[in-house]
Amino acid sequence: MSAFARRIVDWQARHGRHDLPWQGTRDPYRIWLSEVMLQQTQVGTVIPYYRRFVEVFPDVAALAAAPVDEVMRLWSGLGYYSRARNLHRCARQVVATHGGVFPCDPRLLADLPGIGRSTAAAIAVFSRGVRAAILDGNVRRVLCRVFGVEGWPGQAAVERALWSLAERELPATGIEAYTQGMMDLGATVCTRHRPACDRCPVASLCAARRDGSVERLPAPRPSRATPLRSCRMFAIRRGDEWLIEKRPPTGIWGGLWSLPQGELREEAGSDTTGLPPSSLGSDARRVAAAHGLELGPPRALAAFVHAFTHFRLRIEPVVCELAGVSAATAPGAVWLPFDEVADAALPRPIKRLLQSPELLQPPEVLRVGACA
Ligand code: ADE
Repeated sequence: MSAFARRIVDWQARHGRHDLPWQGTRDPYRIWLSEVMLQQTQVGTVIPYYRRFVEVFPDVAALAAAPVDEVMRLWSGLGYYSRARNLHRCARQVVATHGGVFPCDPRLLADLPGIGRSTAAAIAVFSRGVRAAILDGNVRRVLCRVFGVEGWPGQAAVERALWSLAERELPATGIEAYTQGMMDLGATVCTRHRPACDRCPVASLCAARRDGSVERLPAPRPSRATPLRSCRMFAIRRGDEWLIEKRPPTGIWGGLWSLPQGELREEAGSDTTGLPPSSLGSDARRVAAAHGLELGPPRALAAFVHAFTHFRLRIEPVVCELAGVSAATAPGAVWLPFDEVADAALPRPIKRLLQSPELLQPPEVLRVGACA
């Protein structure tokens, strides 16, 4: 075993995490579920979601048998919703083509929806003790620093170098402790900012510490400004209910419920660019016509910006009362009682908006935004 791996394994035993809810099991279903949830989300956020999922869906067959809407509802608030759709597809595929048993071979695991090379390795390590290398964000950071790897890890050549290092350092025994140790070290000691090098078991081997480049590595992604788009979101109220509609299965917030929205616009690039005042009325008329509704006067609330991976969306909330119904409500739209907002499959910013006191105030005290 290399000096590096030895120290990671010993450190994990004494200082690593041992009581996370997905530890102490070799059930590949539970390990897969936790690893998918942990892909872009921190441990503290994942824990309550993980507990709820295993309670409602105790095994892969239960998850596969559930309607996708139920999965989306339980996932709502965790973000990166393609993970939830892939989770459901993966469960169905495991039942349909693997007899309900997750394969042990990381290459077969990586063929399943939503399971990349690193997640496949983590599942194989923790469920079967397979000797396979992981390379998630935390592990990338540890390897870049300890072995002095320059360049942005998202670049293909840098990524290849990191995978080779990750494989080269794998110990012949103790793969579970080593893998957990790498995750734990990255999450608790070798953090992005202000790492605790004085507590690090591999500080004396670390190239970045020797060279004074700990804060500089891993090299950040070369900057690219993400485009800014804008749209109005209509909070249409009927008594104590909001009108919500189902989003198409692909694209942002695919398969979740959200508010009817106005036209999507590309902004010139500034957060402060307002929408032209004249378009509030036409947006409102379009939404009303699409849903066969008559609406009271629309009132704009303060806009906010939500960041997606590839663009930012400036959301301009508009609230209005239902004035009448000119036709049946459009298919795919329902009235959601206020007290069901918390549990509905809504994206987090929309849920937050519908729960904001500002939205529930009577019309005369609503804060009027740029385009009212
Ligand atoms: N991040 C990704 N997988 C993890 C795990 N199994 N434990 C803690 N953090 C993780």
